Amino acid sequence: MDTAAPSSAPMSAPTKHAKLLAWVDEIAKLTKPAKIHWCDGSQAEYDLCQKQLIDAGIGIPLDQTKRPGCVLFRSDPSDVARVEDRTYIAARSKDEAGPTNNWIDPVALKQTMLDLYDGCMAGRTLYVIPFSMGPIGSPISKIGIELSDSPYVVMNMRIMTRIGSAVLKQLGDTGEFVPCLHSVGAPLKPGEVDIKWPCAPIEKKYIAHFPEERTIWSYGSGYGGNALLGKKCFALRIASVQARDEGWLAEHMLILALTSPENKTYYVAAAFPSACGKTNLAMMHPAIPGWKVRTVGDDIAWMRIGADGRLYAVNPEAGFFGVAPGTSKKSNPNALTTCEKNTIFTNTVLTSDGDVWWEDMGVPPPAHGTDWEGKPWTPDSGRKGAHANARFTAPASQCPVIDPEWENPAGVPISAFLFGGRRPATIPLVNEALSWEHGVFLGSATGSETTAANIGAVGVIRRDPFAMLPFCGYNMGDYFAHWLKIGAALRAKAPATMPKVFFVNWFRKSRDGKFLWPGYGDNARVLKYVVERVEGKDVGVKTPVGIIPKPGAIDVSGLNLPAGAIEELTRVDTAGWKQEVDGVAEFYAKFGNRLPAALKAELDGLRQRLG
Ligand code: GTP
Ligand code: SPV
Ligand code: MN
Repeated sequence: MDTAAPSSAPMSAPTKHAKLLAWVDEIAKLTKPAKIHWCDGSQAEYDLCQKQLIDAGIGIPLDQTKRPGCVLFRSDPSDVARVEDRTYIAARSKDEAGPTNNWIDPVALKQTMLDLYDGCMAGRTLYVIPFSMGPIGSPISKIGIELSDSPYVVMNMRIMTRIGSAVLKQLGDTGEFVPCLHSVGAPLKPGEVDIKWPCAPIEKKYIAHFPEERTIWSYGSGYGGNALLGKKCFALRIASVQARDEGWLAEHMLILALTSPENKTYYVAAAFPSACGKTNLAMMHPAIPGWKVRTVGDDIAWMRIGADGRLYAVNPEAGFFGVAPGTSKKSNPNALTTCEKNTIFTNTVLTSDGDVWWEDMGVPPPAHGTDWEGKPWTPDSGRKGAHANARFTAPASQCPVIDPEWENPAGVPISAFLFGGRRPATIPLVNEALSWEHGVFLGSATGSETTAANIGAVGVIRRDPFAMLPFCGYNMGDYFAHWLKIGAALRAKAPATMPKVFFVNWFRKSRDGKFLWPGYGDNARVLKYVVERVEGKDVGVKTPVGIIPKPGAIDVSGLNLPAGAIEELTRVDTAGWKQEVDGVAEFYAKFGNRLPAALKAELDGLRQRLG
């Protein structure tokens, strides 16, 4: 429904929610859009957004026989990923945000941002996007309202979350919602023609969170986690604060169902940093016969302790915002099928016959194409055609291996947690924690080589505890304590079904710099071992660093591993681990007295065991 802005909004809006109406009115007065549109979430509305963007030359229609319902966008070259340097936790005190977050005084930040927001939607439409994280009406779900001046955001939010009239109905007249304000930060003068990807320069971008108020203000970027505010901003940064206060977990984790040849199903949740393999693992096609993987979620898990004392997980999202480069028939056939139709592509190559292409797609590159910057491109132009963080936005329901339980409002029971990262050395293929507390230690010590999912240096090892470094909305020391508390609650209720914790590493390299492990579908071999351990099989051996597979315990049948590779992958590199202990100690020092004593004890214990 369209209304003239701003004062007529309350009269014609499709809700009687006084707080929501007042907020929309306040923001309209501040940002001064030409129009207000309340999103109903219909296909017709989505199609209209798409048509308007295509007619304006902003969205590029793809060949509808090859990619029905698909469209390509090219972002501004400066707006290609999350911007951690411009992402803020504006808690009342710096201590509350903790040493790993960018803190900024909320009062000062609000003033700065109010100045930026003043008139920022001039000439644009303000879209009101009611959305539910989690199935509408589930007791675990939460509602947000995103106000955005980007139709690209509307389209993406419709795929990534559940939006529209059904959400407003669920909200009722007094329901609670998280206000999420977003602007690309590029007002239009009267008569000015819009550019292809409006956004603000880096020093004017702010991705701001007010954890005490449960509010999000984002300005200046149109891309991914900066702009689709249900995702990292709400479902992780704000939700982690809600989870701490309400006794549950909001995590950067995929959720998968693994079914054994005996037809037993186990649910596994795994936290790997951005662009480290969550989507790939969640949809994998197992390389070992008889095993089956089904997808519940590929990026975020919300988990609560059930009445039976087990931990139940839901995927709060409804779509996948996946990394395109590297996605091929060989590496992730299910992702390729998922994005055959009704998909938004961002920053891929456009082929001359109206299809998309990216590096390592497993099909020959087009002889002539257009790269992600809109420039003519050929395979020998000496540069990559797709941006390394090019993405597809596709409905989860299109995934050929979506789990039948994926929308179960009660969630799925988790049997094992995996943590992991890109570690070229030291960290074994799989290492099982000796206890929940040791598992929290391993999670807290997660390190990884940085990737293109954030703007900044790529390939540098940094600590990324629980893969939550950029996504924890409060002091990470308190977050570790929260994990310990959840463990104690699980142990008190149902010790026998506590999830087991493993640390995995698909990225260990040989001396000549090659990956030692084939990864992708072959990671099922490690999942099989994980299930055997969950079932209590005696296939592991206790070492100073954790429980490592016994020789022969990882099924490598049919694999052509180089001689000595599996031994190297499961070797405990004592010298490397001693360095690791020093690295973790240095990281822990940041937290001062907010570091839980139990983690300090785990670190000391490891140091002693290493001798
Ligand atoms: P975000 O969406 O940023 O959170 O990323 P993600 O964790 O879902 O990562 P994704 O599965 O999209 O993988 C990112 C990159 O890692 C792709 O280029 C993959 O090809 C590569 N990758 C994924 N799994 C493996 C693996 O098992 N081995 C190797 N060597 N590379 C992998
Ligand atoms: C990540 O960076 O972890 C992503 C992509 O999943 S974004 O939505 O941009 O955060
Ligand atoms: Mn992610």
